[in-house]
Amino acid sequence: MKSPTSLLPIAIYGILTAPGVAAKCSAGLVNIVFNGPGDKIGPGSHPDSQLFSWFSKMPAAKNWITFNEHEYEKKIPMLGDNKDAVQEAIKMVTRANPPEFLLTFNEPDWDYKTGKTKLTPQAAAELIEPLLNATAKHTKFIAPVPAFQMSNWLPEFYEKCKCRDRFYAHSVHIYNHTIDDAKTAINTFHNKYNDKPLWITEIAPRQLNCDAPTSSSWASSTEFMNELFAWGQSIEWIEKIFWNSGNKIVTHCDTNVGASYLLDGNGNPTPLLAPFNNLTCSQT
Ligand SMILES: *[C@@H]1O[C@H](CO)[C@@H](O)[C@H](O)[C@H]1NC(C)=O
Ligand SMILES: *[C@@H]1O[C@H](CO)[C@@H](O)[C@H](O)[C@H]1NC(C)=O
Ligand SMILES: *[C@@H]1O[C@H](CO)[C@@H](O)[C@H](O)[C@H]1NC(C)=O
Repeated sequence: MKSPTSLLPIAIYGILTAPGVAAKCSAGLVNIVFNGPGDKIGPGSHPDSQLFSWFSKMPAAKNWITFNEHEYEKKIPMLGDNKDAVQEAIKMVTRANPPEFLLTFNEPDWDYKTGKTKLTPQAAAELIEPLLNATAKHTKFIAPVPAFQMSNWLPEFYEKCKCRDRFYAHSVHIYNHTIDDAKTAINTFHNKYNDKPLWITEIAPRQLNCDAPTSSSWASSTEFMNELFAWGQSIEWIEKIFWNSGNKIVTHCDTNVGASYLLDGNGNPTPLLAPFNNLTCSQT
């Protein structure tokens, strides 16, 4: 005869191995990045309405982001790096129905067009001060996300602004080629910034060249994606992951997102869309 206590492990084992029963991704973990540049006019730009219609093909994702401060359904706004954007953000977070979250500066330490720093830590601290002084009714601020996450930009910014406590979560961008290196890089960042939850606001398996993806590169991206979300689900301090990208960058080759887009240049599904919508966040 089995004792009642011995039934418990059997029951759990049964649940884990029953076919078709998989753990669900926790609410809010799965999200998507669209590459714009948002509403700005120019080659490769897309209005928010276009991005939202693409987002509707990704029911697995809770929220989406792109590189502007506009609000749109299910979109988390991102603070621009100029005074007008800061004034807009102040209006947004102090009004009656403010957004739940606001991402702050995107890669202020690096301008890929000039190869220089966009905002020094001092300039960023001065620019953001009126926003942090404004009493947000409800909005949680996400920390600036540096391009070079282990550089001194963030510690210097916190030192200048004395504002570290004003941020709800840290944010990081990760483009290692393998999932093991990506996990190591995420752990390294968290070891340095472990006082808050982490949002991974861009991540993809960086490609080694600009060749068009083959079926085997799509297969390795799928594996990377499945493993990433399953791992993220199991790590208590990882709160949100934003897969980059929802759409293909068509204006130039960016090896960071060379085989990670869910829709091609015409808005048609790539081999990654179905596995993305089928994410279970469970370890295999
Ligand atoms: C922000 O608040 C601090 C403390 O009250 C004050 O010294 C500072 O001048 C304010 N800055 C701005 C830009 O409003
Ligand atoms: C991950 O990529 C970053 C940026 O290229 C690099 O600095 C870091 O060393 C990589 N981490 C690992 C574990 O390879
Ligand atoms: C969806 O997930 C199930 C269970 O993990 C798997 O068997 C199936 O092949 C997946 N389908 C796609 C299109 O990825």
